[in-house]
Amino acid sequence: MFDLEREEWADRAFSRSEMRRQIASPRSVVGVVEIADDLVGFAVATPGWSERAATLNNVLIAPAHRGRGLVWPLLAELERQLGARDYRALVIDARVENGFADAVERHYADRARVLAKDHPSPYGPQRTIRVTLTG
Ligand SMILES: CC(C)(COP(=O)(O)OP(=O)(O)OC[C@H]1O[C@@H](n2cnc3c(N)ncnc32)[C@H](O)[C@@H]1OP(=O)(O)O)[C@@H](O)C(=O)NCCC(=O)NCCS
Repeated sequence: MFDLEREEWADRAFSRSEMRRQIASPRSVVGVVEIADDLVGFAVATPGWSERAATLNNVLIAPAHRGRGLVWPLLAELERQLGARDYRALVIDARVENGFADAVERHYADRARVLAKDHPSPYGPQRTIRVTLTG
C-alpha cells in the first residue's frame, strides 16, 4: 500500500508510520483490490467528525488498472463494512482535477450530497461529498 501511495503522491504521500496507524487502527475499515496476488488498490475509512459518519482517508487504484471502474466495488466493500459497524454515511474529500469528485456525484446520484464546494488542499482542489449508506 505504501509503495502505491509513494508512487502516486511522492513527497505529499502519507508517511509509512501514518499509513500503518490508519490501517492498523481497530476503528478503521480497510478494503483492497487484488489481481493475481498483486495488490492493485486500497481504501481506508476512519471515524469522522460524527460518530455516524466515517471519513474516507485514502483511496487509490494502481495506474495500470485505472479507468475500469475498480474503485466502485472497492468502495462498495467499504460501505458494507461500515454499515456493519452502524455508520450511516461516508464522507469523501474527492479530488476534482482527475474527475473523481464528478464521478462520485454521478455514481452515488441521490445518495451523494455536497457538503463543501471545491476548495484548495495540499492534494489539489477537492470537493467534500457525503454518501449515505444503504444498509
Ligand atoms: C480516483 C481513482 C481511485 C479512480 O479509480 P478508477 O477505478 O481508475 O476509476 P475509473 O476511472 O475507472 O472510474 C471513475 C470515474 O471517473 C471518470 N474519470 C476518470 N478519469 C477522468 C477524467 N480525467 N476526467 C473526468 N472523468 C474521469 C470515469 O469516467 C469514471 O466515471 P463513471 O464510473 O461514471 O464511468 C484512481 O484514479 C486513483 O487512484 N487516482 C489517484 C489517487 C486519487 O486521486 N485518489 C482519490 C483521492 S480523493
